[in-house]
Amino acid sequence: MKRAMTFATVLLMAVAITVSVIAAQTSDADKKTEETAEKVPAPDVDEQIAGLEAMCAANSEARSARHKETPLFERLGGEEGIHALTREIVRLHLENEAIDYMFKDLDADKVAHRVALFVISGTGGPAVYDGPELKVSHADMGLTNADFLTAGGDVIQAMKNLGYKQDEIDEVVCILVSLRGQVVLAEEGEKEAGGY
Ligand code: HEM
Repeated sequence: MKRAMTFATVLLMAVAITVSVIAAQTSDADKKTEETAEKVPAPDVDEQIAGLEAMCAANSEARSARHKETPLFERLGGEEGIHALTREIVRLHLENEAIDYMFKDLDADKVAHRVALFVISGTGGPAVYDGPELKVSHADMGLTNADFLTAGGDVIQAMKNLGYKQDEIDEVVCILVSLRGQVVLAEEGEKEAGGY
């Protein structure tokens, strides 16, 4: 982790140096364009969700065609691959300060195991999940869209860490997006108001 931070710092410095060299060479007219571009704010949570939904709507046919040819279950590495994936996801959740408090008092292996059974059943594997509906298991968590994006970021990172390709990452992300309404049951800001 420390090595990754150091590498990230070096990378940032290199980017900063490159940017300042390019900026020094840029004409006044170009600078105006750059300044305008810099003022475009980063997408907020709702915009990010809308972007994901648009992406999933646009690639829906391609995803179904791939799944028809080889079920996502197989492309995720079958039961063994999916168990390894959910263990990595929960490991990242426990390192993620924004959401670790929801997991740290739980048995991480058990959570990972139950989520794996859900993924196995939902991606074309055997119907091994017999747990509660998502609305029930997430009912008392007060999850927001921000939590959803944070957890989704860990899922993407876990898949990258394990060497999955972009097609499979998109497919898993779009499954999560399609289930968002069953886990995000709180309004933004409700947590603060509720005194979490
Ligand atoms: C669409 C997105 C999500 C899906 C498909 C999903 C799926 C699941 C599943 C299948 C379980 C196991 C339920 C059981 O068998 O008892 C679970 C548990 C859990 N999920 Fe999610 N989840 C999602 C989003 C989130 C988010 C955003 C968070 C928090 C940031 C979260 C936090 C948890 C926690 C803490 C548990 C453990 C509950 C317990 O054992 O008491 N989930 N999730």
